[in-house]
This record gives sequence, structure tokens and C-alpha cells, in this order.
Amino acid sequence: MPNRETVWTLSPSRRRAIRAFAGLIAGSPLLKGQQDPFREHTRIPKLDELLTALEFEPVFHAKLPRQVYNYTAYGTDGEFTLRRNRQAFDWVDLLPGPTPAKPQTALNLFGTPLAYPILVSPTAAQVAIHPEGEVAMRQGATAASNTPMIVSNVASLPIEKIGAAAKGPFWFQLYPKEDPDINRETLERAQAAGCRAVVVTIDQQASAYERELHDRHLGPPTNRRTAREAAPRTPYRIREFRLFYDWKLFAEIRKLTKVPIIAKGILTAEDAKLCLENGLDGVYVSNHGGRSLDYGPSTLEVLPEIVDAVAGRCPVLFDSGVRRGTDILKALALGASAVCLGRIPRWGLGAYGAPGVQRILEIMQAELVQAMANTGQPSLAAINRSLVRTDFP
Ligand SMILES: Cc1cc2nc3c(=O)[nH]c(=O)nc-3n(C[C@H](O)[C@H](O)[C@H](O)COP(=O)(O)O)c2cc1C
Repeated sequence: MPNRETVWTLSPSRRRAIRAFAGLIAGSPLLKGQQDPFREHTRIPKLDELLTALEFEPVFHAKLPRQVYNYTAYGTDGEFTLRRNRQAFDWVDLLPGPTPAKPQTALNLFGTPLAYPILVSPTAAQVAIHPEGEVAMRQGATAASNTPMIVSNVASLPIEKIGAAAKGPFWFQLYPKEDPDINRETLERAQAAGCRAVVVTIDQQASAYERELHDRHLGPPTNRRTAREAAPRTPYRIREFRLFYDWKLFAEIRKLTKVPIIAKGILTAEDAKLCLENGLDGVYVSNHGGRSLDYGPSTLEVLPEIVDAVAGRCPVLFDSGVRRGTDILKALALGASAVCLGRIPRWGLGAYGAPGVQRILEIMQAELVQAMANTGQPSLAAINRSLVRTDFP
């Protein structure tokens, strides 16, 4: 006589019930949903699964603590200008044209050869988002057809180490200090390390980031070593050490600099003219990615009047809000000589290290070529305002 358990196991009705249940599960849309890789929220996709720069941000978000993610993401105050930087690209139409042969994208900027009109904007404290920080950023940028990286004055690694990390060209960004000896030492070191141009940032004098203030309880966020250092002295974080800026500063910087000098943070035609009057070699239109003055204009809206004021007398760089190849093409059509990318390469670095930086820059390069082909642009020199229709409010 078989025992009770064997009877149950062999029972045809139980087997039938299990088979029917298994069939139901196998056909269930719920199970199918779980097998779809893009619905699996805990899985980090492989690098080659990502097809646009925007897809890197959720991976960057997933891999880093909240306050570290926020340090890259936020804009100043209520983040109106941060949003407007993106929105402005929607107010510019591209007009299609006949597809030419493969578009030519190479140019020379201040003696630096570029395969594409794309550079990496200076951004601070990259060790906070990846252990190899600026070294990996420079290696990834160099691997992407020698894209020049602009190394921030508040990098987390010494300039000598960043300079030696790869063979591609790099520039240096300076936040001027009131003490000329500090500027002299900083600029001497950057030039000895091999920088080919100096970008002097003149915005960011008194910005406050509400998200950072809220995140203080989460611990040291970014480039600061301790939570105590992270705590701003006033909730409004006025950077008293930057409130001395004035155009005369450039005469002093010129004496210390043998390479071209470019002013970053220009948002008006008047300031662009002052750059030229003060002997600068280039104008860099930027609102610090919406991190400087909230309710300031988006950079795309002010770009045409700045280009008109400069009237071809020097190159005009552009950043803030660029996320797609078509964005780059729109900025070029409105007169930018080249475009810099701030958050995008940080997403690549934080998500995948140097290979992520390389991949995300290559995506932007390929998208630019595609956009040029779609609009019938054979070369950078051919691109002009007739390519776009603007409807800024
Ligand atoms: C996290 C972060 C750090 C930055 N650090 C610097 C810096 O050290 N020096 C500087 O001139 N600009 C700095 N910027 C501004 C960038 O150079 C650039 O203007 C801005 O990121 C461009 O906007 P995008 O991020 O929308 O591309 C920083 C921006 C971000 C997002």
C-alpha cells in the first residue's frame, strides 16, 4: 500500500492542476513584464545598451548617493533657468535639406585641433562621482577623438596628475582669487602641466542651491571633506571671496598667461564687447548650467545677440542645456564656434568611468553628424542661421 504522500504526488488530478498553473504563469503578462530588461529597475544596463546621452542620467542616479547625484543635477534657487536652458531648444526649429556626403566636422580653436566642435566643460570635484575622477574624465575624453577637456580650478586631483593622464589636449579653468600670488601659482602650474588655453569663469559669485541646503543632513555631498565644511555660513551662501571681480582683473591674468584667454559666463552683448575691449581671445556664453543666476535667460536665447556683437572678431563658445546632437547643431546655427558639455560627461563618468565618458561623447558626435546630414550641411563652415527658425517668447 503506497503512503499518503506518494498517492498525492502521483495523483493525475494534482499533476494536471500543476501543469495548468505553470501554463498560466508562463503566459502571464506580469512575468513577461519582469523579464523585460527596461522594466527591471534594480539592474544596471551594460554600457552598449545605452543609445542616447539622456539614458545615462538614470544610471548615474541609481549608482550614486542622493546628495552626490543632486550636486550634479541641481540648478540655483527654484531652477527656472535650469529648466529654461532645455526648453529654449524646443523653440528652435531645424529646416531639412538635401543630404550631402559625410559632413566635415573638424576645426581648429585657439590652436587646438578638434575632430568635432565639442569640448568637455569644466566641472568641479569629479572624485566624488568616480574614484579616478578627473584622470578618468580626461582619458575618456581623449579616447573620444581627442575631445579637449577643460579642467576645473576646483578639480579633486592635482593638475599635474590630470595633465599626465592622457595625451589629448586640455584647457584650464580659473576662478580668480583676490590674492595675485595664488593666481600666479595656479596659472604657472596649469601651463607647466600643458594646458592650451585658460578659461576664466566670471559668474557664480553668490549662488545658492536649495537642494544642497536640504541635503545637508545626508552628510558631505561633494567636494568638501566634512559635513561641517559643507554647512554654508549663511543659508544664502554668498561667496564673499568672489565679490571683488572686475574687468581690470584680466590685465593681471594676461601678464601671467602665455596661452589664449577666454571669459566664461557671458550673457549679454555688452559684456561680450567688454571681453574684446579687455583683450580677451574668446567669449564663452554660459549660465553655469542654470547654477548661477536664477531667472537669468537661457544661453540659447542670448547667443544670437552676443554673436552679432562679437561680429567674427573672436570665437564664441557655448554651453548650458546641451543634451542632443540637434542641440549642438542649433547652437552652431545661431553662431557658436563650438559647444561644451557639462553634466553629460559627468553622467558617463559616474555611471561607467572612462569608457562611459568616451561612449557618451561618441554618441553626441554621431548625433551631430546625423543632424548635419539630415539638414544638408556638408561642413561646419556651411552652417548658418538660415538652417533654423526661432520662436523665442
Ligand atoms: C556639478 C557641476 C560642477 C561645475 N563646476 C564648475 C567649475 O568648477 N567651474 C566652472 O567654470 N563651471 C562649472 N560648472 C558649470 C559647467 O562648466 C557648465 O557651464 C555647465 O555644466 C553647462 O551646462 P550643462 O550641464 O547643462 O551642460 C559646473 C557644473 C556642474 C553641473
